Amino acid sequence: MVSTATKIGNFDFDNCLMNAAGVYCMTREELAEIDASLAGSFVTKTGTLEARDGNPEPRYADTLLGSINSMGLPNKGFDYYLDYVTELQNQPNSKNHFLSLVGLSPAETHTILKQVEASDYTGLVELNLSCPNVPGKPQIAYDFETTTEILTEVFSYYTKPLGVKLPPYFDIVHFDQAAAVFNQFPLTFVNCVNSIGNGLVIDDETVLIRPKNGFGGIGGDYIKPTALANVHAFYQRLNPSIQIIGTGGVKSGRDAFEHILCGASMVQIGTALHQEGPAIFERITNELKAIMSEKGYEKIEDFRGKLNYIEA
Ligand code: DHB
Repeated sequence: MVSTATKIGNFDFDNCLMNAAGVYCMTREELAEIDASLAGSFVTKTGTLEARDGNPEPRYADTLLGSINSMGLPNKGFDYYLDYVTELQNQPNSKNHFLSLVGLSPAETHTILKQVEASDYTGLVELNLSCPNVPGKPQIAYDFETTTEILTEVFSYYTKPLGVKLPPYFDIVHFDQAAAVFNQFPLTFVNCVNSIGNGLVIDDETVLIRPKNGFGGIGGDYIKPTALANVHAFYQRLNPSIQIIGTGGVKSGRDAFEHILCGASMVQIGTALHQEGPAIFERITNELKAIMSEKGYEKIEDFRGKLNYIEA
């Protein structure tokens, strides 16, 4: 019997596949559809202190090789998502879930996390350090000093299981520096990667999306090699107590297999879920299981992180 079950921290999941934050997760209705699918979990849209409308449309476009978006953090306010995951947590036989959060400033992030700390929710939180689309707000995780300050403060009051969503890094020195920062904290997981920030896609002579003169986060096929490199770089560098969630360019069982081979304990699907809908979880689960049984693997621990190198 082949199983794609997994564990993040002390939380069990029947399947290692789930949505990526931003896709199919804005409303209770969308989240309930993911919950009813073969996905092992869901993560909510990143919630801010107050609800936001986000950037003007068109703000998302599919392309032949993936997607571009500059949504601008539209969301219903973090308490909407906190209420829903708490409600589900209190139901018998509920799956475990991830609550994605960030403030528009460090102070707002602390206000939100203090409310989650004080709440009845005991599940996983993903702090998003990598939103590329709010004009005037740089991605936090590209600034190691600010990241260190925020996490130092967070862990002075936050005691529940917490992970961070990271942008892609592109230099070995940055992998080293980022891992040295994250290794200082009792993180449950890091999630690699968010979209490649601020790409530009053009149709004829015009950009595809309205905000920021067309600049937006790139997802899909374009980003799989970058995502795999980030998953593996952090797998090699982080304390074994910090697990990796792999996100980026997953649209087949083979892609999910590669993320796990690089070290991912859970695999998220963004662009391909947007394009195909929640039935994608059954297709990719079946494809992943077929690869595993062909190779004689019964569980994901049998091959997780066991990427082969070409020896000298
Ligand atoms: C948005 C995009 C992101 O990549 C992210 O991490 C958070 C929010 C957005 O534009 O809504």
